[in-house]
Amino acid sequence: MLIASRKAPQCEAAAAELRTLGPCEGFGGDVGNEAGVAALADQVHARTDRLDILINNAGATWGADFEEFGWQAWDKVLSVNVMGVFELTRRLMPMLIASNTEGEPSRIVNIGSMVGTLPLADRAYSYATSKAAVHHLTRILANEFTSRGVNVNAIAPGPFATKMTAYALGDAHRAGEAASTIPAGRLGRADDMAATLLYLCGRGGSFVSGAIIPVDGGMTAQTRQHMFRSDDA
Ligand SMILES: NC(=O)c1ccc[n+]([C@@H]2O[C@H](COP(=O)([O-])OP(=O)(O)OC[C@H]3O[C@@H](n4cnc5c(N)ncnc54)[C@H](OP(=O)(O)O)[C@@H]3O)[C@@H](O)[C@H]2O)c1
Repeated sequence: MLIASRKAPQCEAAAAELRTLGPCEGFGGDVGNEAGVAALADQVHARTDRLDILINNAGATWGADFEEFGWQAWDKVLSVNVMGVFELTRRLMPMLIASNTEGEPSRIVNIGSMVGTLPLADRAYSYATSKAAVHHLTRILANEFTSRGVNVNAIAPGPFATKMTAYALGDAHRAGEAASTIPAGRLGRADDMAATLLYLCGRGGSFVSGAIIPVDGGMTAQTRQHMFRSDDA
């Protein structure tokens, strides 16, 4: 297993923990610009000639009021969340195609978001738009590459308490408030993501491609609208 993000020491530390399960290496890489993606792909090629699974997890966000939401807020977020995903996938696709075997396709899992499905930005206009692009790119790549032995799917998470959402979910009160808006009554947990990845990357996902799987406690399934009556009718 290979793990990369900009902070090499954290990736090395995570890899050291995972080495109890099997071979694992962590190293630095930046998917926010073309040179960074090229260097990251080179690092992968230097370490292995076989790649069965690619998980495009890196993500960046930006929050500002509509009136203040400038060009840089689009440039930074689309570079990491869309262009980085496409460029890294493009560079690693030949290895993924070569690794697939009869009945056991290689896998790509892109991490989208609930806000890529719902028309909801919460001041993160470029982020929500970028995740809609991730979902559409997932389906486009599934259309092109499933027949070449690579299944391409996306996970669309709801709210999880991570560094990215610390501004909104960082304290217990705000986390509780957020959880109360989720039909399942709680925030997402790391094992919700792990179990979904095991499904998509294991036997269960071998006949699944082009899916956008909501892991959101039912958030995208709810609607307050009625077609023929009001709530109090
Ligand atoms: N938390 C949620 O509620 C939620 C909901 C829906 C979707 N997501 C998505 O889930 C994914 C993981 O996010 P998270 O919630 O776990 O937040 P996070 O803790 O902030 O993780 C973001 C990850 O992306 C990496 N990253 C950011 N910019 C990068 C760059 N230019 N190059 C390489 N790596 C970069 C970060 O590592 P470095 O800083 O070391 O680069 C970090 O590992 C993201 O795609 C996010 O959009 C999260």
